[in-house]
Amino acid sequence: MCGIIGIVGTQSVSERLVDSLKRLEYRGYDSAGVAAVVGGKVERRRAQGKIKNLEAVLADEPLDAQNGIGHVRWATHGAPNVKNAHPHTAGRVTLVHNGIIENFAELKVELAATGRVFESDTDTEVIAQLIDAELATGLPPLEAFKATLDRLTGAFALAVLIEGADNLILGARRGSPLVVGEGQGEMFLGSDALAVGPFTNRVIYLEEGDYVAIDHDSARIFDVAGAPVVRPVKVVPASVVMMEKGNYRHFMEKEIHDQPEGCQRTISAYVDALTARAAMPGDLDFKALERIQIVACGTSYIAGVIGKYLIEQLADLPVDVEIASEFRYRQPALRPGSLVIAMSQSGETADTLAALRYCKAKGMKSAVVVNAQESTMAREVDVVWPIHCGPEIGVASTKAFTAQVSVMIALAVAAAKARGMIDAAEEQRMVKVMLEAPRLIAEAIGLEDALKDIAVDIAKARDVLFLGRGPMSALALEGALKLKEISYIHAEGYAAGELKHGPIALVDDQTPIIILAPYDSYFEKSASNMSEVMARGGQVVFITDPQGAKHAPAGARVVVTAPASDPLVSTLVMAAPIQLLAYHVAVVKGADVDQPRNLAKSVTVE
Ligand code: AGP
Repeated sequence: MCGIIGIVGTQSVSERLVDSLKRLEYRGYDSAGVAAVVGGKVERRRAQGKIKNLEAVLADEPLDAQNGIGHVRWATHGAPNVKNAHPHTAGRVTLVHNGIIENFAELKVELAATGRVFESDTDTEVIAQLIDAELATGLPPLEAFKATLDRLTGAFALAVLIEGADNLILGARRGSPLVVGEGQGEMFLGSDALAVGPFTNRVIYLEEGDYVAIDHDSARIFDVAGAPVVRPVKVVPASVVMMEKGNYRHFMEKEIHDQPEGCQRTISAYVDALTARAAMPGDLDFKALERIQIVACGTSYIAGVIGKYLIEQLADLPVDVEIASEFRYRQPALRPGSLVIAMSQSGETADTLAALRYCKAKGMKSAVVVNAQESTMAREVDVVWPIHCGPEIGVASTKAFTAQVSVMIALAVAAAKARGMIDAAEEQRMVKVMLEAPRLIAEAIGLEDALKDIAVDIAKARDVLFLGRGPMSALALEGALKLKEISYIHAEGYAAGELKHGPIALVDDQTPIIILAPYDSYFEKSASNMSEVMARGGQVVFITDPQGAKHAPAGARVVVTAPASDPLVSTLVMAAPIQLLAYHVAVVKGADVDQPRNLAKSVTVE
């Protein structure tokens, strides 16, 4: 996923473009670039790697202009170097792009046959060449742009400068998000509200297929058929506009510590503390519902697996959870009487969006558990179940994960009550348990110093195993994913009972084994798994609760005692220790915690 900004402004544009790109850097950081209209000519400045490299280029060669575009790249076509860095130029056209043009190869052949020469390996440059070719036929900018959009197949968000049309930026949205920011005598384009946040909190969310022409005083929006349309202006809350790390070193650290508040706000949106009822927005009839299909990727998938355990246990309602990128290609047997739930922090993940659309096409009701409430998925489902943890900037998902799990817990309780599996008294008890969870999460975060010490040892490991049973087997997957993606140490999460069927061969005295085992119905089995690995020299970090610490077999390298918690919310409480462990291992290793190599916050390409 890449980040885009466009400014038709009244101040020096260089610093403004860079400021905005810094807010977008979580979307991709293989390269960065800006372009501006200087004396009627478009000039570019580009750099490989982080934005600070672009700032160095701009310090040497400033851009004296008021209008411009900018881009941070997560490479899809072409290596992450300057040649392939956006913005791309062809004749009078300079543009930035987020997405993938699927028919770029044939368009490139067609354009090259007319004598056009390409300088990059990207699909993006083809768009610039196409617009320039349309301009060369005499079409005015907006018509040349529309003619080009009609020829593209794939996903794109675009911001386009055209020489000779100095106070104009063209934008388009298809498959990748784009917003218009409305200023005072200025207009902006951005990938999301964060991008335009430094300049305005008045945001227009373009619809799928929309394209737009912005100048100092107007934003003329057209739908995919070319008809002028009006889209509502939304005032975005300050929390989205002002993203700071506060006194934390990394966004991830801040977001781990934000979890009690994020879960409290999310849980409060799904329970009524007065009546002690759990309620899911939307008119879904859980009694009649035959089955739930959850589709998601990465950490969101893991939140869905936890949801499966809870919904099936409490509501006796069949739930299947699948990796979105696999799901639709296996032609699953779906029935119209079931519900598809997409789980997605960004609401833009291409794999999940495609799986969601596949299910909708089969006649299924659809819902999304999502953080970005104006995202594509949020616009396309029947029911939105928002999480309320605020924007998550760290690429490794933490507060969004526990907020997603909070929604799964509420869903399990509400469905169980609707299906007569629990009575009002049990529902009230469960709601009380949910409302107490944020305090327990805060207590678990208080274990940070112990985890910091453990991290020093784990940082030396080559391989790490995470084990758990029941919902903790899902949390073991999450612990492994967190460690992998920010510290680059190989880690695997396993159902503890599965270890003896092969992976136990990995166990030796060099392999840290993190066992997640609160004192629940699975504890005895987990304890015997712990003995199995210790008998083979495994170095066990046992994460449990006070009762578990009392009953754990002797011999663990270290025991971490999280607060006691009801099984309904134990995954919320046990998440913080594994997040903090991964975070501090990454810090010990000097890794780039908020922007790990090769990753992006949301992968909007399949
Ligand atoms: C989580 O730490 C990762 N950054 C990644 O697995 C992420 O959860 C996945 O890409 C799904 O993103 P989404 O929730 O925005 O759909």
